[in-house]
Amino acid sequence: MKKNIPSYYNNIDLILDEIWILLQRGVIDRNEDFRLPVVIVNSNGNADGRIVVLRGAFKDKNILRFHTDRRSPKVSFLKENKKIYFVFYNKKRKIQVRAEGISTIHYKNDITLQAWKNTQMISRKCYLSPQIPGDLINESASDLSKEMGENLPTLENSEVGYENFCVIESKIKSFEWLYLASQGHRRAKFNLDNNTKTWLVP
Ligand SMILES: Cc1cc2nc3c(=O)[nH]c(=O)nc-3n(C[C@H](O)[C@H](O)[C@H](O)COP(=O)(O)O)c2cc1C
Repeated sequence: MKKNIPSYYNNIDLILDEIWILLQRGVIDRNEDFRLPVVIVNSNGNADGRIVVLRGAFKDKNILRFHTDRRSPKVSFLKENKKIYFVFYNKKRKIQVRAEGISTIHYKNDITLQAWKNTQMISRKCYLSPQIPGDLINESASDLSKEMGENLPTLENSEVGYENFCVIESKIKSFEWLYLASQGHRRAKFNLDNNTKTWLVP
């Protein structure tokens, strides 16, 4: 039986739009695989990756956004070296996207204020730890008080988390696309700075 071949399979002009559709879906749809990219930064000369939640994908500005604790090691690394790298994979569609960018750390400005207002209690809870993320502790423990446990903070109690909240915006310079298909994979690269694109050997 002949498998369905997507329209972008042999048409590079359709791929960039498809990338942004998946990214924007990732921001709003919890079930979209692109919601949870791996983010890689340079940590003192070593590569260092982790998963984050994609919180913004702005096609008009080529910007991706995620939220984090400004005390976390990745923020220190990004202060040293703004280069950032994202890897996304949609299992059902068999699409991998790699994105190379330059990051900006937003802290206590209009962007963070707006983002914080829209941050749900379950997420605000992540910013309430008095301890610094990644610090050593002597026994297995959460970073939250025992009283907090599974409870959510009140709106008032959550506000202190804003002190630790920051938004990382990344201006994407290039995307690399890989589509896996039994009839032959497809790979393409998009340079967003000079608006060029090319097929690559998969
Ligand atoms: C599903 C999932 C979603 C996550 N989302 C975020 C996030 O949006 N922001 C964040 O800073 N960490 C997030 N984390 C935790 C990071 O992967 C990482 O463990 C943490 O940020 C510490 O990273 P660092 O020590 O490199 O700074 C998430 C982890 C998982 C498993």
